Amino acid sequence: MGLPPHDVADLALADAGRTRVEWAERAMPVLRALRERFTDARPLAGVNVAACMHVTAETAVLLAVLRAAGAEVALAASNPLSTQDDTAAALVQAYGVSVFARAGVDREEYYRHINAVLDIGPTLVFDDGCDLVGTLHTERPELLGSVRGGCEQTTTGVLRLHQMAAEGALTFPMVAVNEADTKHMFDNRYGTGQSTLDGIMRATNTLLAGKTIVVAGFGYCGKGVAERARGMGARVVVTEVDPVAALDATMQGFTVAPMSVAAQVGDVFVTVTGNRDVIRAEHLAVLKDGAILANSGHFDVEIDLAALDELAVRRNPEVRPQADEYVLADGRRVVLLAEGRLVNLGAAEGHPAGVMDMSFSTQALTAAWLAGEDRPSEPGVHDVPYGLQGEVARLALASMGVEIDVLTAEQQDYLHSWKPGS
Ligand code: ADE
Repeated sequence: MGLPPHDVADLALADAGRTRVEWAERAMPVLRALRERFTDARPLAGVNVAACMHVTAETAVLLAVLRAAGAEVALAASNPLSTQDDTAAALVQAYGVSVFARAGVDREEYYRHINAVLDIGPTLVFDDGCDLVGTLHTERPELLGSVRGGCEQTTTGVLRLHQMAAEGALTFPMVAVNEADTKHMFDNRYGTGQSTLDGIMRATNTLLAGKTIVVAGFGYCGKGVAERARGMGARVVVTEVDPVAALDATMQGFTVAPMSVAAQVGDVFVTVTGNRDVIRAEHLAVLKDGAILANSGHFDVEIDLAALDELAVRRNPEVRPQADEYVLADGRRVVLLAEGRLVNLGAAEGHPAGVMDMSFSTQALTAAWLAGEDRPSEPGVHDVPYGLQGEVARLALASMGVEIDVLTAEQQDYLHSWKPGS
């Protein structure tokens, strides 16, 4: 059988990619269990999946499960910096996935690849940031009729979907996988926490102990970064706009301050807010010499890159891989990591497989739900059913050899009765 349509950097990298995917698979026991289940049940037979996701070994393990479940799958990258060219080659050659992704492509190529993936004529869509769903609705409306639904993996994408739904623009059900406990409680917190510091350390080899790390945003991702940085011996300053999140950070013992103050004391900055211009000209103007700027939010809008360019009198590209140095007029140097894009995927390998197992198992079960009889039919943003999340957690616990209690009949009755009082 010939290879599926593709545009990847080099098919000769397929063997190396396969080794990488198999390594990731070892740390993904829940997906392995689902693959076994789906190989028999084939819940995605006849389904065409169009996916826009980070092209990583972990994503490859998920897509292999979808293939085993009977789906045809096409994949474009959700960020050109994170594409692993060897994984892309392996997906085409060993897993029969139609991949359109090469590391480092420009914006035009990025959208050309998304359009190529849409040519599959999707029944289901998998998105990570809403670029595929956005392109589908704006540029390829003729394909909308055959889409049964899809899932979205990130906070940023879910926000966009809610905006689409509020404007009546979303034409099919989208499941907010990001909102599932089995996703954000683990992936956003432990995944972003660990991989963000991993990216900063790979790019700079800086010692975190004793440094002041400023974490902008205290959602699940920000909590993860702050907790892990504290664990490495850093002093952590959190910036927030939400009073409840700021109170939470304060009660967890973090210093909370406005960015105007934090900018003067930070050695390393991490933005994880999902919003734009979090570090802007007025903050750049007061940074310490040698300050390191990293973003771990979905888009490269959190650090005002235009302002940084404007303030700089010289740019020394790649003082280390994924680290560009900007020299300001007064001689201060500012180091920008991964061009202001997701540092954990640009300068490291994204979240470890062990935590992507939870997120992607949630996605795989959601796909089977969307392909089945009891799927949601209303256009709009839907939650992952709690029973489905329980199934992911049960499989994860079983893989770790952890057992839990079961309610007795009396306990069940008690929980469902309103009559017993104090
Ligand atoms: N998002 C964050 N980490 C990831 C990974 N390892 N693979 C795919 N998507 C991710």
